[in-house]
Amino acid sequence: MNAAAAPNTALERYYQFHSRIYDATRWSFLFGREEVLRRAARVVQPRRILEVGCGTGRNLVSLRRRFPEAEITGVDLSEPMLAIAAGKMRDERTTLLRRSYSAPVHESGAGFDLVLFSYALSMFNPGWEQAMDAAHADLAEGGSIAVVDFSHSAFGGFRRWMGMNHVRMEGHLWPRLAQKFVPLLDERLPAYLGVWQYGMFIGRKQD
Ligand SMILES: C[S@@+](CC[C@H](N)C(=O)[O-])C[C@H]1O[C@@H](n2cnc3c(N)ncnc32)[C@H](O)[C@@H]1O
Repeated sequence: MNAAAAPNTALERYYQFHSRIYDATRWSFLFGREEVLRRAARVVQPRRILEVGCGTGRNLVSLRRRFPEAEITGVDLSEPMLAIAAGKMRDERTTLLRRSYSAPVHESGAGFDLVLFSYALSMFNPGWEQAMDAAHADLAEGGSIAVVDFSHSAFGGFRRWMGMNHVRMEGHLWPRLAQKFVPLLDERLPAYLGVWQYGMFIGRKQD
């Protein structure tokens, strides 16, 4: 993992504190994380995996369990989030990179068979379109993208509160994903009796 550096964006400052309570709290509202991995495993048996915005590594652990031989790369902006992930992922086939994902991470070679965004893209404000473009470039031909994230809410107060937590909830991610990748799964699901909707998307890189 890259050397520690002082936080310099609002999001990095946010995770300076939230990294300490992340794993203890997020299970109660980041729904669909295991389900999207289960569904992705039906369509791809990846040898090279990238998780963008891997945070504390909850999904990296699950990916390693599902794909013991895969090379796994996790990218994240936040040093304290990555430090927790590093404590969980000590094997040689895992690489953690501290960086903002606005351009592809793979420079040459085959690219990734699976790129995962789990509750990350809704926090790329600005930058979600560039992150999708980067993921497209990072995927090998025929590779798959899997996304699980907040979608939208009919409650303005809730949307504003989520905005204060750096999350944009305007259903903006799904149309562009479906345009950029061949959709294999594209669903919206209610959380807490419909206070908000979250979404799952699995798509294939088109030629
Ligand atoms: C809500 S957490 C999700 C963590 C993990 N994927 C999960 O499902 O538990 C969002 C993560 O995305 C990271 N992140 C946000 N914007 C980013 C960017 N532009 N580049 C890389 N990581 C980013 C944050 O630092 C944070 O760790």
